[in-house]
Amino acid sequence: DTDTLRIKVDGGVCMGHAMCNALAPEVYEVDDAGFNRMGEFELDPAGRGAAERGASACPERAISFPRS
Ligand code: F3S
Repeated sequence: DTDTLRIKVDGGVCMGHAMCNALAPEVYEVDDAGFNRMGEFELDPAGRGAAERGASACPERAISFPRS
């Protein structure tokens, strides 16, 4: 579906830096320990800029944008 942006947060790679949430709180949620447990989800493509900003901020590169 080209009308949705697919995002994958690898919970096995996330180390709880919470930079994704700091840079793009409208896209990424973290728990009280700073870990992102969102897994795979879809977003309106209007949020692509914020999604990529948050992903780029992750020191572990835990966030990717898989294609169907
Ligand atoms: Fe985890 Fe990276 Fe965000 S380590 S909390 S996905 S900045």
